[in-house]
Amino acid sequence: MTDVTIIPMTLDHVPAAAEIERTVFPDPWTADSFFEVIGITEKCWVAVKGERTIGYLLTQWVSVEIHLLNVAVTPDCQRTGIGAALLNFLLCLGERHGMRDVYLEVRLSNHAAQSLYLGCGFTKLAVRKRYYRDGEDALVMHRALTDFHLPADDELAAGDTSE
Ligand SMILES: CC(C)(COP(=O)(O)OP(=O)(O)OC[C@H]1O[C@@H](n2cnc3c(N)ncnc32)[C@H](O)[C@@H]1OP(=O)(O)O)[C@@H](O)C(=O)NCCC(=O)NCCS
Repeated sequence: MTDVTIIPMTLDHVPAAAEIERTVFPDPWTADSFFEVIGITEKCWVAVKGERTIGYLLTQWVSVEIHLLNVAVTPDCQRTGIGAALLNFLLCLGERHGMRDVYLEVRLSNHAAQSLYLGCGFTKLAVRKRYYRDGEDALVMHRALTDFHLPADDELAAGDTSE
């Protein structure tokens, strides 16, 4: 993790990210998919070591929800804390901006990613049947960010000054 920084993803990072994507996923996004996503959401980051892009995290923020679209780390840098650093960066930033929930889908067979998410405080929420193009199910995971709660009736009454 030494000398690794997390910076906003730009168009210049796409070729390296697409190369990582091809290496780690059986059904990789194309470079065009990356261009499309960073065209509609500026909430995308890369982990860089020197000049080298070694990981990325793509998200979409809607209202108070963050949807994690994609995250990966280049194979020779895996298990060195980059994935956790990217996720913790997102969780801190989301909290600072008042976001309340993070959702993601992960293949049922992807135990490495599930371990990463569980370690970052995500819980298992549901299964989406045949979510992926090859027919595999997705596990939906969720992480609450802030301590948001609906007020109880007595709290509402205490604040009622209409009389
Ligand atoms: C999932 C992924 C992003 C994890 O990135 P990483 O940089 O290797 O993760 P970290 O080094 O920060 O590991 C954090 C924790 O995640 C879990 N983890 C990561 N890789 C794991 C593996 N291969 N097997 C089991 N647990 C793993 C461990 O709990 C780990 O903590 P530990 O090293 O103290 O045991 C990486 O394996 C990857 O790019 N995989 C291919 C792409 C992918 O599946 N993306 C997720 C799509 S939903």
